[in-house]
Formats: sequence, C-alpha cells, structure tokens
Amino acid sequence: MSPLNQFDPQGRLRHLITLEGLTPDHILDLLDRAQRHVRPIHERPATGQSLAGLTVANIFTEPSTRTRASFELAARRLGADVLNLEIMLSSRAKGETVLDTIHTLQAMSTDIFVIRDAQPGVCRLVADHVAAHVSVLSAGEAHLSHPTQGLLDALTIRQRKGGFETLTLAIVGDVRHSRVARSAYQVFSALGVGELRIVAPAALMPELGEMPLARRFDSIEAGIAQADVVMMLRIQKERMVQAAIPDADDYFIRWGLTAKRLTLAKKDALVMHPGPMNREVEIASEVADGPQSVIRQQVTNGVAVRMALLETVIAHRTLRQGPV
Ligand code: NCD
Repeated sequence: MSPLNQFDPQGRLRHLITLEGLTPDHILDLLDRAQRHVRPIHERPATGQSLAGLTVANIFTEPSTRTRASFELAARRLGADVLNLEIMLSSRAKGETVLDTIHTLQAMSTDIFVIRDAQPGVCRLVADHVAAHVSVLSAGEAHLSHPTQGLLDALTIRQRKGGFETLTLAIVGDVRHSRVARSAYQVFSALGVGELRIVAPAALMPELGEMPLARRFDSIEAGIAQADVVMMLRIQKERMVQAAIPDADDYFIRWGLTAKRLTLAKKDALVMHPGPMNREVEIASEVADGPQSVIRQQVTNGVAVRMALLETVIAHRTLRQGPV
C-alpha cells in the first residue's frame, strides 16, 4: 500500500483515518470550527445546509451507540442524506467484498463514507479505492485509532481549561487495547500537553516503545496525583483472551476511580470517559455523575466535532460541483 495521504493535492484535509500527521494548525482549525457548532443542550442545536445534496454512508460493523448517533446527527444537521448500513448483516454475509459494496454505494452518489470496523486497515483500503471527490472518515479502527474521539476530548479540555501547555493529563486503565487512548496520545502530543501520563496495570500497558512521550505509571494513586485531567478508559473485554479479563470487583478495588482517589488529583481536575462506562468497574457512579465529570459534555461536543469534520472534508471536493 502507498503511504496514507489524508490530504488532497492542494493540501486540504480529505480523509480522516488517523490523527497522525495532522499539525497543531489542522487540529486547532477543526476545534475552532467545532466550537461554533456547540450549543447548550436546552437550546436548539446548530444546523446548516452545507451538506445539502450530499450523501453520507455510515458503515458500522462493530457495535456503537454514541459514535453512530453522533455522526448521523452531525450529517443530518448539515442537511445531508444519511444511509446507515450494517454491512455484516447484509452484503458481506452474501459474500460481497468490502470494495464491491463501496463501489455500489459510490454509484448511488455517496460522497462520504464513515466507517467503524474491528479489522485494522479497512478505512485505508476504502480510501485507496474511492473516487477523487469521495472522503473516508474513521469512526473507530480496531484498537488503533478513533480520531473524532481524540478531537472531541481536546475540545472538551480546551473549553474547561483554556489550553494545553500547562496541563498534566492522565490516561487511565486499559490503555493497551484502547483506540481512544491512541488517538488521545496523538492529539495531545501534537498539541503540546505539559505532561502526558499513561496509567495502567502491567498487563494493560501498551508495548514498550509505543507512546514514547508519555510517562508510565503502574499505580492509579501515583498516576493521577496532581493531574488536571483524568481520562478513564473502558476495559475492552472484546479484545482480550478470556483468561486475561480482569475480575470486575478486583479491578475496581485496585484501579477504579473512586471519589476518594479523585482527591489525589488537582481540586478542579476534570474527569472524562469516552463511554460506554462500566460503572463500579473502572469508575464509581458518584464520580461519573459528580461535579468534576465532563462526560456528558464530551458527548455534546462529539456532534459538533463531527459537523466540523464533515464541513472540512467537503471543502476539497469543488471538483464535483457543477450542474446536477
Ligand atoms: C469507544 C469506542 O468504541 O472506541 N466508545 C466511543 O466511541 N465513544 C470506547 C469504548 O468502546 O470503550
């Protein structure tokens, strides 16, 4: 495969499959644009027509509630036609290859593919084969990458803390199997976070050499001490062999974020979680629902980030404008 190029010949973002290779300017542009779409939840959401006449196909072959709903709302709020496909249940089951499916949908004028797949490389494969005006956005690729989650995490932190340079950010839990952690690492190292920590039991640490700029901690108490942001991760049971799955009660005792442990972080530390949460496994309910939690704000910001991304990637497609 050729090296992944997420930009068009004019240097505009066309695909988003990984945050690797994005400059701070690219990231900050997306955050600024997303911020313009954020509204308090009791107000009507931001809407527009910038995607009117365009078609977005959401192809999710792994379970998802929030990411899928979020991409769908983002596209609809910008006026797009949206297709939701569970390929595994339809054409893949009939033996059609991924690329046949993509070409079929492209022949129906799909402009943007949003793909979540448990297999590494699917987004990349599709991006290598679509027409020049078409974009591919990852909604989560195996354990490797979840770029829109990284962006919404960054937006949430910027809203509450104003910037990144002075912050200590702790990513806690099943880092090894987490695409959320990998995208967080990429976005926060690009944005120059003061101190980036990964905090995990030995079995859930990524390989040595991965995430080289992060400090590693094998105790939650040391890892969250004086942190400005505590980002909790879900135990990814689906990516573990049965024998390696930690016992839930045991894990909570040693690794759960309780109200008592949270007092070790800064007084105004933010608590984050990408969802879905395992309450009383990685996080106590009183913390998840407590005053320091920004978990719901992350969800709200997710729609705004995806709107910003959809608008950004269609900017490259002046190619196909013209009489219909
Ligand atoms: C995450 C995912 O699926 O990668 N959820 C999400 O997209 N908000 C995290 C997880 O499943 O633990």
